[in-house]
Amino acid sequence: MTSELFVYLTLPGAVAPVTAGRFKLDTDRQGASVGRFVYGRRYLERSDAVSIDPIELKLEERTFETARLHGMFGALRDASPDYWGRRVIEKHAGKDKLTEVGYLLNSPDDRAGALGFGRNVEPPAPLRTFNRTLDLSRLQELADLIVADEEPSETRPADRADLTQVQDLLLIGTAMGGARPKAVVEDGDALWIAKFNRRDDNWNQARVEHAMLTLASECGLSVSQSRVTQIADRDALLVKRFDRQHSREGYRRARMLSALTLLRTEDSHLDRDRWSYVALAEELRRICAQPRLDASELFRRMTFNALISNLDDHPRNHAVIAMDQDWKLSPAYDLSPSIVVSIERRDLAMICGDRGRYAHADNLLSQCERFLLSRAEATRIINEMEATVRRRWYEVARREGVSNEDCQRISSAFVYEGFRPSPEPIV
Ligand SMILES: Nc1ncnc2c1ncn2[C@@H]1O[C@H](COP(=O)(O)OP(=O)(O)OP(=O)(O)O)[C@@H](O)[C@H]1O
Ligand SMILES: [Mg+2]
Repeated sequence: MTSELFVYLTLPGAVAPVTAGRFKLDTDRQGASVGRFVYGRRYLERSDAVSIDPIELKLEERTFETARLHGMFGALRDASPDYWGRRVIEKHAGKDKLTEVGYLLNSPDDRAGALGFGRNVEPPAPLRTFNRTLDLSRLQELADLIVADEEPSETRPADRADLTQVQDLLLIGTAMGGARPKAVVEDGDALWIAKFNRRDDNWNQARVEHAMLTLASECGLSVSQSRVTQIADRDALLVKRFDRQHSREGYRRARMLSALTLLRTEDSHLDRDRWSYVALAEELRRICAQPRLDASELFRRMTFNALISNLDDHPRNHAVIAMDQDWKLSPAYDLSPSIVVSIERRDLAMICGDRGRYAHADNLLSQCERFLLSRAEATRIINEMEATVRRRWYEVARREGVSNEDCQRISSAFVYEGFRPSPEPIV
């Protein structure tokens, strides 16, 4: 079976896409797939052409080929809907499961990054209208229905009828990745990702995530702008999109690649030994315009995740962006504490040093040179951040509206004992 599509790209400074190339996916009878991509000749002739991926899809006149990721290039996979978006599209299209190319073609154009996809050689006009914050309560209702549908016993027939009409409303925003219910809304001159609380969350996720982004900013990290908004009796988190920039003519779009792509790895846990902050630092040094800045920022993020037990820091939760020519680490996003019983040892999702994923101060320090930091600098960063998190987490959380009960629920996440265990007693 062969499926083909055109890949569009919104160039730096522009607000409408041009055709960048063509992608073809061949799947044989055994189900093995090979993907091929070529840049269009007219695109390569442009003086302002940029690459889709500066390592895997360099701006060259040749056929790129991959058998990894079921034939999907990482850059295309990053522009494809993830768990949540796929659920919405399946409801909308009335299909159980689409092919990878099907998901790309059926997802709306407000996906992360600067790419677009279609069957025609000429790109469609860019999206001009977006959901507004006013639509949030309807969006939240629809998200609830989809979540409820994951648990069939709880779904009433009336809800099912409603689900068949999951309108364009919710479809907008589904191309954004991640598993949590979300939608994209326009507010003022910016696009925001609305992340909805789920009724089965252990705490007020919107407020806690907002507090973590605020705490990260106090620790000196560059973070996505966020705020909490109330919809009916619930809160939702609004995170400002860093891959869109408003202009009078429309939205400029940044190219975006996940760390999963930079590390040439997959979501599967089988690929987990390649999920690594240390390796990611090396990749940033290869592609970023200011490697020293970005590598040390990554070091801070890794340290912050260890200090708040954000153990869901998988490679889709890190990205690089290029609003113009130059690539840089994106602002931090998706920061949440996890609650784990162990107080002796906690593991991050990615390798952080000689002792693997162990969230321990010495382990974070062990490879600091690869983040272009001297041992003295790295030690200072860890000490300062540890002190800030210890001293400020509760105050920041309360100030940002996290209830006292929720603070109790998450309290064991901060500077857990094993981060710097006291020395072994001498016997
Ligand atoms: N501020 C932002 N601007 C642009 N893109 C973003 C922003 N925040 C997140 N994204 C993109 O949207 C995706 C989903 O967002 P996020 O990770 O916050 O959702 P999630 O559902 O909580 O994810 P997970 O499945 O990791 O729990 C991210 O992987 C990233 O590609
Ligand atoms: Mg995420």
